[in-house]
Amino acid sequence: MEQRQKIYEGKAKILYETDDPGLLIQYFKDDATAFDGKKKGIIRDKKMVNNKISERLFKELAAAGIRTHMVERMSDREMLVKRLKIIPIEIIARNVSAGSLSKRIGLAEGTPLPRPIVETYYKSDELGDPLLCDEHVFMLELATPEQLNAMRDTARKVNQVLTDFFAERQIRLVDFKIELGTEVGAKGDLNNGDILLGDEICPDTCRLWDMATDEKLDKDRFRRDLGKVEESYAEVARRVCGVV
Ligand code: C5P
Repeated sequence: MEQRQKIYEGKAKILYETDDPGLLIQYFKDDATAFDGKKKGIIRDKKMVNNKISERLFKELAAAGIRTHMVERMSDREMLVKRLKIIPIEIIARNVSAGSLSKRIGLAEGTPLPRPIVETYYKSDELGDPLLCDEHVFMLELATPEQLNAMRDTARKVNQVLTDFFAERQIRLVDFKIELGTEVGAKGDLNNGDILLGDEICPDTCRLWDMATDEKLDKDRFRRDLGKVEESYAEVARRVCGVV
């Protein structure tokens, strides 16, 4: 697969076109940012670890019937993916209160939620990814009611599959973010309406706590200067994919 023009560079990854208009190469960067890019750093070997973890999780989700953009992992830092038109809504699912939920509603971090919740945020660096209610989604025409329902259903299903998958590895899935998009047909900008899971799922986009000790094994170690960032990512990779 030939790598062509760069079409997108985000905080954690770069997307390149290929000789197939329906496929892109997703390149994982070592750069780490938090707080809407205000805190910057490098997490050594992050690209390799996140790529491997994402691959394993996407495989698990595909086996459970959830369609994802992954075609295959091409190398340590590259994944071949289907080209999606990303819906600019970040979907967050939560099982335990932490982060912005604890801050917003005053629930102590670590409080288990009576049932999982799914939230929608506007994917906008400029605005700091604000929380959206459905009225906002429809007013801004970010998604149709059918799409929004499909996105929430997917998030709930992803949550079920990954909660079990991580629990088998002694990890508590506290919360996670996913991005979804419609598949862009190989013949150009035709879009067939199916919603696929895009982006990546890894310790950058999930909160993962050791089940026995509640030790954080995710990006909060970087955000909160807790140390052992690389070691924690490697530990997740070890439990999820075997030795890395
Ligand atoms: O910050 P907050 O508590 O809302 O984050 C919830 C979950 O979503 C966390 O696992 C966090 O890593 C992830 N997230 C993300 N990208 C964002 C915002 C949150 O991956 N832009």
